[in-house]
Amino acid sequence: QNGGLKNMKKVSFPLNLKSTENIEINRRIKNVSKIVDFVFETSSRIRVRPAIQNITTQHIEKYKEAIRRMKALDSNDPRSFAQQALIHGAYCDKYSPADLPSMPLEIHNSWLFLPFHRWFLYFHEKILRSLIEDDDFVIPFWNYDDPASMTLPSMFDEPTSPLYDPLRNEELRGSTKLLDFRQNPNDPEHRLTDVETIQNNLQVMKLQMVTHSKTSRMFFGGKYNPDSLLKPDTPGSCERAPHNFIHNLVGSKLTPKGQDMGLLYTAARDPIFYTHHMNVDRLWTLWKDLSSENKDPHDSDFLETSFLFYDEKAQLTRVKIKDCLNPSALGYRYDNVPILWLNKTR
Ligand code: C2O
Repeated sequence: QNGGLKNMKKVSFPLNLKSTENIEINRRIKNVSKIVDFVFETSSRIRVRPAIQNITTQHIEKYKEAIRRMKALDSNDPRSFAQQALIHGAYCDKYSPADLPSMPLEIHNSWLFLPFHRWFLYFHEKILRSLIEDDDFVIPFWNYDDPASMTLPSMFDEPTSPLYDPLRNEELRGSTKLLDFRQNPNDPEHRLTDVETIQNNLQVMKLQMVTHSKTSRMFFGGKYNPDSLLKPDTPGSCERAPHNFIHNLVGSKLTPKGQDMGLLYTAARDPIFYTHHMNVDRLWTLWKDLSSENKDPHDSDFLETSFLFYDEKAQLTRVKIKDCLNPSALGYRYDNVPILWLNKTR
């Protein structure tokens, strides 16, 4: 119990930031007079996040407008698009906890991965909602586990749109090139036809979601060890693939480290990051529905871990993992679409 409390403190957002790259965040955090604890909304409404291939033109226009407004906010405003990207970066090994300056915080590659991103998306979506004053607004999920969305979604591919990012893999432009979930998709020795690529992607999905996810340790990844001086290196199955694959596929091939999407620190500068993570979050909900054996970790170190995010009023808010485990309590669910990989045999 004590160990849990000790660990929990170390995993929360660092207040003495070290990076000079983000002096702005540093300055803002120092000025924060108050952190409030998260409270659930009282309304019991459930919003349905749709698959990206099914959203209406009107919905796309709203999404563009919301991101346009987010990008137009002062870059010091923690709700601005630039600061949203920095908040993701802050949890990606750029900062050290106050009491452990030698160990950078890293929420990837361990069981913190899924809940951290669920919370991040929750606040990001809420901010977008408030910017367009539309309480129904939701971000769609990039349903790349279905052939209907195994290409770059065209709404992200218009150079004049706020959803566009020039730092992306050129090959995906035009929304015809299929995503390929293999380690070395460009290996000339192993060219696949489109039909074969789709079949292979579905097999990868089944492998990651079922075969390699028999236990919660396998699905979520290893425990986060705040006492370790090494970066966590135990990603769960769905973090490894499709999650990491999508990052590497979408990141530019011309930037030194695959920016934006191919480098965790810059990934959230690309608006496509958020629809990608909606799908990762959806895969978590699907995994839990696949079997009654599939359960969230119940260790108190996991449940009591806290993160800090800014809400739609730019109020710094402390959340705990235990409060995000039930999406309907957070007011959303994912639209039911066919899951083609479930019937794949391997
Ligand atoms: Cu925080 Cu997909 O990365």
